[in-house]
Amino acid sequence: MISHARLLELAREYGTPLFVYDGDMVLERYRDLFRFIPCEKLRICYAMKANYNPALLTLLRDAGAGLDTVSPGEVLYALKLGFPRERIIYTANNMTDAEFEQVLALGVTMNIGSLSRLAKIAKHHPGIRICLRFNPDVCDGDSEKTMTGGDLTKFGILLDAVDEVRRLVREGNLRVIGLHEHTGSGLQHAESVYRSMANLMAIATPENFPDLEFLDFGGGFKVPYKPDEKRIDYVSMGAEIARRFEAFTAKYGRKLDMYFEPGKYMVAEAGYLLVEVNTLKRNRTRLIAGCNSGFPQLIRPVLYNAYHQIWNLSNPCGTPQVYDVCGNICETGDRFAEQRELPEIREYDILAIGNAGAYCYSMGGVYNLRPMPGEVILHDGKVFAAHRGLTSEELADRILEENRFK
Ligand SMILES: Cc1ncc(COP(=O)(O)O)c(C=O)c1O
Repeated sequence: MISHARLLELAREYGTPLFVYDGDMVLERYRDLFRFIPCEKLRICYAMKANYNPALLTLLRDAGAGLDTVSPGEVLYALKLGFPRERIIYTANNMTDAEFEQVLALGVTMNIGSLSRLAKIAKHHPGIRICLRFNPDVCDGDSEKTMTGGDLTKFGILLDAVDEVRRLVREGNLRVIGLHEHTGSGLQHAESVYRSMANLMAIATPENFPDLEFLDFGGGFKVPYKPDEKRIDYVSMGAEIARRFEAFTAKYGRKLDMYFEPGKYMVAEAGYLLVEVNTLKRNRTRLIAGCNSGFPQLIRPVLYNAYHQIWNLSNPCGTPQVYDVCGNICETGDRFAEQRELPEIREYDILAIGNAGAYCYSMGGVYNLRPMPGEVILHDGKVFAAHRGLTSEELADRILEENRFK
């Protein structure tokens, strides 16, 4: 946990907007999972889409973590960072033939989520080892946009299609070494995890898939975003997961590895976005605190209606007032929080937006040509890595450079 005093110091030292991450917390979250889920063959493949900061990935690499990747770019980046390819799983959806060939050549386990792709593999790549992604047929998640089970999602092969899968696997003489499901992000109910596991384990029989080496139950472990939100009891949930998996492997007849692919759980709470308020405005019924960042830098409130806690670091004891905390982008919807009670905000106050470690920087962009902020990573109480954001001039030059088509 980084103290508010330290965050304020970093804001003063590096300037704002600025992302700050607690590398120790990320490592602690990784190690906690092994304590929570007492399964001797557990592998954690961090979903790097949540936050691809290279310093955080290096810490996780050295701690032994694997990676869940979703694009050739992520695979190449992970390999360049020194992740062994055996620790990487590739779960793209709607991939092109060229992308498939590119990642296959890199020697990474491919997780296939459509019958159409499976048919192409059976025809053109007989004999290869693959993992298959199934739709767990369970709907859960913190936003409809991130639920990945059930009828309305594009992900995975339907469980009902298992006979067709077997036919294609036989036709291509493929070795199915893993089965996968991912139910969604921010799973609200422990029961959903158990049901998705049960649905996948039901088809993971030696008759259907005799060559299995692992089952991968995706990510989705939720963390609290609101101050009054309860933390899930991961000790009892982990024990239940391990118990169910052990019962399954006893039936399967052989010990298999169990994979999870958490993203949010590992990094969300470890990150802050520090911003400076530059304009206060009273708009009849609304008090608006305008700051020097905007939704392209932290899009979750706008995209998912997500709640992120906000602290006034430089005036923590101010008399509380109700604010719309807005950004610097030309859209009315550009708000980090609406009608939020906060200690009095003055111009030049520094605010910290919490839970900014997952799906914030990594979903960022430069809309309105506002460069992405710098990032600072703390580890062992010290600054472990830091980079500044581009200046506006550098961003302008970079875009012009990229557009110089030959
Ligand atoms: C296949 C897959 N695995 C894991 C994750 C990570 O989910 P979370 O960050 O909620 O743990 C995602 C998120 O989109 C995903 O699509």
